[in-house]
Amino acid sequence: MPNALAIDGGEPAVTEPIPDWPVWDERERTALEDVLASRQWGVGGERTEAFAGEFASRHGAECGVTVTSGTTALRVALDAAGVGPGDEVIVPPYTFVATASAVLEVGAVPVFADIEPESLCLDPAAVADRLTDRTAAVNPVHLGGRPADLHGLQRVCADTDVVIVEDCAQAHGTWLDGEAVGTIGDVGCFSFQTSKNLAAGEGGLLLTDDEELYTRAWSRMNVGRVPAGDWYEHPVLGSNFRMTEFQAAILEVQLERMDEQLEHRTAAAAHLDAALADVPGITSVPDHPHTTQRGYHLYIIQYDPDELAGIDKRTFLDAVRAEGIPLSGGYRPLYREELFTEIETRAPAVTELATHVPDYNSVVCPVTEHAATVTAWMPQSVLLGEDALLDQIVEGFAKVSAHAEALAADE
Ligand SMILES: Cc1ncc(COP(=O)(O)O)c(C=O)c1O
Repeated sequence: MPNALAIDGGEPAVTEPIPDWPVWDERERTALEDVLASRQWGVGGERTEAFAGEFASRHGAECGVTVTSGTTALRVALDAAGVGPGDEVIVPPYTFVATASAVLEVGAVPVFADIEPESLCLDPAAVADRLTDRTAAVNPVHLGGRPADLHGLQRVCADTDVVIVEDCAQAHGTWLDGEAVGTIGDVGCFSFQTSKNLAAGEGGLLLTDDEELYTRAWSRMNVGRVPAGDWYEHPVLGSNFRMTEFQAAILEVQLERMDEQLEHRTAAAAHLDAALADVPGITSVPDHPHTTQRGYHLYIIQYDPDELAGIDKRTFLDAVRAEGIPLSGGYRPLYREELFTEIETRAPAVTELATHVPDYNSVVCPVTEHAATVTAWMPQSVLLGEDALLDQIVEGFAKVSAHAEALAADE
């Protein structure tokens, strides 16, 4: 039997430091100072456009538009794709709120479809069940960098006008069947918020090959201007979702580190997968069989209460965290948030205009319900650690697994 659990006063398994995130050095400092000195802090600078172009070409996309966040990328993408009041957008319930709240922001109605048990990403069969003639878009999320079944979704949406808006906030560097996610659907939306694999504090970007969609998105981002238009020419409605030159300067440098970090995370995840396979009651999320590269953002695990003396998730999380493992408890089913259960008062502009609004109180997606009770994850920065840290993490999970009976007795 391994040492006493840390939660019971034993030594925590993890003593190696968790790597700091974000990573930065003199290159970011110099880049920021350059922007400062140039006095081109926002409009007038050239870094945001240059970064959008570089990010797009690295992903094999025709066009990129930088915006203020992943949330605004989703909002602008939906808007530019023509999604609006009365339309329905199919979203997974096991995701960050923005995947669905961006839909409300453009006046459309989120419709929840369940996820697949293995990938925890949107299930094409569930999407097929939710398609109606009001469906305008589907927002698959590549959870933790694990690609969603985009080709399955494309098959389901073939012969419809439904637009696929990929939520790639957690999937920088994920490639499926030789193509980067974000370029397989009609538009891909990325986040550069601090925790993300490419970080600038805040920021977002959307990729598309559709030039008309690009122009509309660019205008939405830039107060209704048009790319080659005059400064005070505003033919369409837009807002100000412009990224600053400071963000673009940091992102240019972060991009230089991305491949090396991806490689490190991939090797670390493989190390954890192999070692955790010997720990009863803990499993990790398997790859999509067509994954070319998995841009790990989260290292997602599931615990199996049946193999761990029936302990509940709270007990599991508390015991694992006490071992020094930074484990997040994962999402709650999104349809349970008051934003949806009280939709008439939280998004009245949407409910007044829509002819069909789901009764979110009666939505139940069984796979999501189960996932919410057994899923947890570690942040990507853990995967930048060396083997000594990873081995201690495995030891921590192994301790909790070995002491499950005692933990259950104390519940
Ligand atoms: C799946 C998902 N979608 C959208 C977002 C929104 O990105 P941001 O925080 O940049 O608005 C996030 C991140 O927070 C996310 O994880």
